[in-house]
Amino acid sequence: MGPRHIAIIMDGNGRWAKNRHLPRTLGHVKGAKVVRPLVKACTERGITHLTLFAFSTENWRRPPEEVSTLMGLFGQYLEKEVSDMQKQGVRFRLIGDRSAFAQGLQDLIAHAELSTAHNQGIHLTVAANYGGQWDILNATREWQRANPLKGLELLDAPGLAPHLSMAGAPDPDLLIRTGGESRISNFLLWQCAYTELYFTDALWPDFNAAMLDDALA
Ligand code: FPP
Repeated sequence: MGPRHIAIIMDGNGRWAKNRHLPRTLGHVKGAKVVRPLVKACTERGITHLTLFAFSTENWRRPPEEVSTLMGLFGQYLEKEVSDMQKQGVRFRLIGDRSAFAQGLQDLIAHAELSTAHNQGIHLTVAANYGGQWDILNATREWQRANPLKGLELLDAPGLAPHLSMAGAPDPDLLIRTGGESRISNFLLWQCAYTELYFTDALWPDFNAAMLDDALA
């Protein structure tokens, strides 16, 4: 059976822009454009889950104008793509601490999730203000709230699983990272325990279906 779940760290937007003497933010604009054809390519290849790392908890440290460009891009993506997601049957979900986002963006996220929840196609999960360590700690706290009478010595992996943000999804079969670095950078730490890792020097705005096929091969 081919892979069901692919997770991707989309790196190299800034360098893509720098190579063209463009502002970094244009690299993110181009990077966002890669997502729609990628979702389609994954669907065509029978992949049931695609999870994209769009914004890490560490990304808040970037210059304020870059952070606001990224927030604006997420909002635009959600406004523009929901109707296409409906056509393609995409089920959209966001993981990460969304409470830090502007209310307008939180509303767009909730709308995209609600209006695609009953679709039957690929699960597209965007990780934003997400960190793998946060996910595990958050799940542990939730488990304790759900089991107030149990001591932590009774916590085990199957017990924690339903409280993790990817609950219900198969673990990623393949993690792809573009941009030349060979690190997991606090992405899906728990879920990638057995995942195969694939690193490529290609910069995210250049990523395409042929490169996806190379990674799958
Ligand atoms: C890493 O490149 C990329 C990001 C921090 C942002 C990823 C966001 C997008 C691709 C756009 C929006 C996505 C969606 C799902 C709408 P970098 O800036 O770290 O590149 P560098 O290492 O070359 O500087």
